[in-house]
Amino acid sequence: MSTAAQPAEPTPPAANGEPVLEVRGVTKRFGALSVLRGIDLNLRQGEVLGLVGDNGAGKSTFVKILSGFHRPDGGEIVLGGQRVSFSSVENARTQGIETVYQDLALIPQLSVFQNLFLGHELTRLGPLRLLNKGEMRKLARQYLDDINVNVPSVDAEAAQLSGGQRQAIAVARAVRSASKILLLDEPLSAMGARESRLIIDLVKDLSSSGRVSIIVIDHNYAHLFELCDRLNIMNGGRITLDVQVHETSIEELTELMVSAYRRQLEEVQNAGA
Ligand SMILES: Nc1ncnc2c1ncn2[C@@H]1O[C@H](COP(=O)(O)OP(=O)(O)OP(=O)(O)O)[C@@H](O)[C@H]1O
Ligand SMILES: [Mg+2]
Repeated sequence: MSTAAQPAEPTPPAANGEPVLEVRGVTKRFGALSVLRGIDLNLRQGEVLGLVGDNGAGKSTFVKILSGFHRPDGGEIVLGGQRVSFSSVENARTQGIETVYQDLALIPQLSVFQNLFLGHELTRLGPLRLLNKGEMRKLARQYLDDINVNVPSVDAEAAQLSGGQRQAIAVARAVRSASKILLLDEPLSAMGARESRLIIDLVKDLSSSGRVSIIVIDHNYAHLFELCDRLNIMNGGRITLDVQVHETSIEELTELMVSAYRRQLEEVQNAGA
């Protein structure tokens, strides 16, 4: 008997992954506005989790908490079994968390290669640890060529790039540097079709390595269904649905979001009545 006729289904790395991140009861207020009201979420080794929610639902705020940009008001974050609290973005970075922010992609005054190596600069051997700019330039050019990102020059200031080019560099940098968790907040929002494809492929490559776990926010469900293993819906400051992508569909997700929106509208109207 031969088993060769039946090639094994590739198992997604997420299927058997250990939890790398556990978020319990995370809350966040801005003044009187309670944005996160107790977020419970987990992320397994090698998994790609999509975060879905209306504008203003709190997705970016949540990502900024995970990346050390905002401090939570309550709840806990457990990374690799250890409770953590990040003092800064740099601090989260040193613990393996890289982020592409929706609104803070690159440092405009720095060049392409400086942005690419930000926080992970190469230095020359020797006691002074001088920056090895030549090597960083060369590697930056090589890397961007490899992944097909077009920029005028690796010496161009980020401020001179188009929005899409900036976003591509930001994603390329994060993909390259993330060692545990990659947080992508609408990484495709400024991208044309070619660049979107390029970024999707880059993220898929990273996820197929099983090395890094990813949380991605995107309003385009087709992107999420292509990239993700699992989806969480954020609504009213909580996660209201946790579903495997293969157990749902774009149609079902759209219907869920629309009916949640209708319910909210009714609540507002009833409160006003
Ligand atoms: N620094 C801040 N200070 C005060 N309010 C804030 C701040 N950041 C976000 N908010 C408010 O918190 C709420 C959630 O914002 P957030 O950016 O997290 O939403 P989002 O789910 O990412 O939305 P979108 O899909 O539009 O990006 C909004 O009402 C927003 O105005
Ligand atoms: Mg946002």
